[in-house]
Amino acid sequence: MRILSGIQPSGRPHIGNYFGMMKPAIALQDEGDAFYFIADYHALTSTHDPTQLQENVRDLTIDFLACGLDPQKSTFWRQSDVPAVTELTWILSCVTPMGMLERCVSYKDKIAHGISPSHGLFAYPLLQAADILIFDSNVVPVGRDQKQHLELTRDVAQKFNDRYGEDLLVIPEPRIREATSMIPGLDGQKMSKSYDNTIDIFEETEKKLRKKIMKIVTDSTPVDDPKDPTDSYIVQLYKLFASEGAVKVMEDSFRAGGEGYGYYKQTLFEAIRDHFAPMQERREKLVKDTAYVDGVLEEGAKRAAEKACEVTDRVRAAVGM
Ligand code: TRP
Repeated sequence: MRILSGIQPSGRPHIGNYFGMMKPAIALQDEGDAFYFIADYHALTSTHDPTQLQENVRDLTIDFLACGLDPQKSTFWRQSDVPAVTELTWILSCVTPMGMLERCVSYKDKIAHGISPSHGLFAYPLLQAADILIFDSNVVPVGRDQKQHLELTRDVAQKFNDRYGEDLLVIPEPRIREATSMIPGLDGQKMSKSYDNTIDIFEETEKKLRKKIMKIVTDSTPVDDPKDPTDSYIVQLYKLFASEGAVKVMEDSFRAGGEGYGYYKQTLFEAIRDHFAPMQERREKLVKDTAYVDGVLEEGAKRAAEKACEVTDRVRAAVGM
């Protein structure tokens, strides 16, 4: 079983990225043949500074390795090191009706958030389809926001197979992480870079991390009054890091009253800091070991290219090239 997922290098990963994509991807390394990549072609739709793009790729590679991605178990590469995927994108685009892409909400959503409406941004879901189909992927673990792109991938693969021959492309199954579908940011909206409400997994300093957590929006219930834990963003975030027992302690304390929100924020801060501490330590070592990090990506690209070549040959022959 091939498991595939990609992540855009669009700045430092935050807690939403970690629980939505990185952690489940890392856990799946033991379940099958895991293929993970850094989607720098996709990032080109929004990152226009070459130095920035390169730095983002390097940082994310290191962050992923620090969080537990094991290059012995997984194939891990940089998307643009396997350029065959752009060829497949073109071939797929010739079986894709315009309306299918026009219905994608991510395009409209990104424009609404100020990303310039290029053709690349419009065609983004099709490049993603090629990413998946070029490796005969069976399972694609993604966040809820990627559901539509997975449906499009399946539809496009089916259209291709209908035109050129059954079983040419493997139809992938999405695996949507429902449990962590909505991780609130500091303001309670979905945590997202474009909403400027993120908590990064590796904040520069502890002080910065604490300062951010202290900014989480709360209501203005007085210290002594009982508080409702169900709608609290503090509790929602705490659930990601603490045991059931610890969460219950916090919830009971909310209901009892007597503590201010600052107290709970401090508890949350400590939980987040402790959770990422061992990864932070690994990260510091990796930052200094450029040769190792480059070697991982190089080896990954080699393995990925081999598989991509197999599928591309099959597809080229099928369409008459
Ligand atoms: N679009 C995905 C995101 O923003 C990233 C991505 C690109 C991806 N190609 C992919 C995810 C292929 C899964 C499979 O999160």
